[in-house]
Amino acid sequence: MITYKQITKDDPLYPGECRLRERVLLTPIGYDMDRFVSEYPGFEDKFEHFVATTKTPGGDRVVGCALLLTDTDRSGYGKLMQMAVDPQRQGEGIGRRLVIEVESAAFGDMGLEGIYCHAQTSAISFYERLGWSAEGDEFDEAGIPHRKMVIARPPVDAGETPIPSW
Ligand SMILES: CC(C)(COP(=O)(O)OP(=O)(O)OC[C@H]1O[C@@H](n2cnc3c(N)ncnc32)[C@H](O)[C@@H]1OP(=O)(O)O)[C@@H](O)C(=O)NCCC(=O)NCCS
Repeated sequence: MITYKQITKDDPLYPGECRLRERVLLTPIGYDMDRFVSEYPGFEDKFEHFVATTKTPGGDRVVGCALLLTDTDRSGYGKLMQMAVDPQRQGEGIGRRLVIEVESAAFGDMGLEGIYCHAQTSAISFYERLGWSAEGDEFDEAGIPHRKMVIARPPVDAGETPIPSW
């Protein structure tokens, strides 16, 4: 069973989140967490951290993660970053559920109007299946082709509000 939760840097799961980010995202572009933190000081504290975990005999293990930056240069919009699923667990729906967790928090308590991300072009259809849309042209980031993907907060459906029966 997979559990999805939002954590802080003080959580015992945080080192597992960092290891997953290193393995799936940072090492392939020549980074580790130390280099990331030194080049982007302060950002680890600004991120909202979301993880997917599974129970193992050795304790909970992080098999997926996503970060959300709420204070961005696009007013009202958060930025989804460093989305990664353990290569051995990809294709099981973990990434989809993680994005849904992030959207729920972003459009609920955080009150954001939308979320964008810089998606590797290989992952564009992953986001499209979740209702996100591509915006603008392809661009290069860390030597990898990317496209901006965006989703706006869904409109509140007035029809869903129950009518008082008395
Ligand atoms: C991209 C990634 C986060 C997706 O997570 P995942 O758990 O494997 O995806 P899911 O199993 O939830 O897939 C959800 C849907 O997207 C599709 N999908 C998943 N990865 C995809 C990809 N790279 N390209 C196209 N479609 C993809 C799945 O087939 C599934 O389709 P369905 O709705 O028809 O069932 C994961 O594969 C990953 O970590 N990749 C390497 C790092 C990366 O690319 N991160 C994103 C950077 S923008």
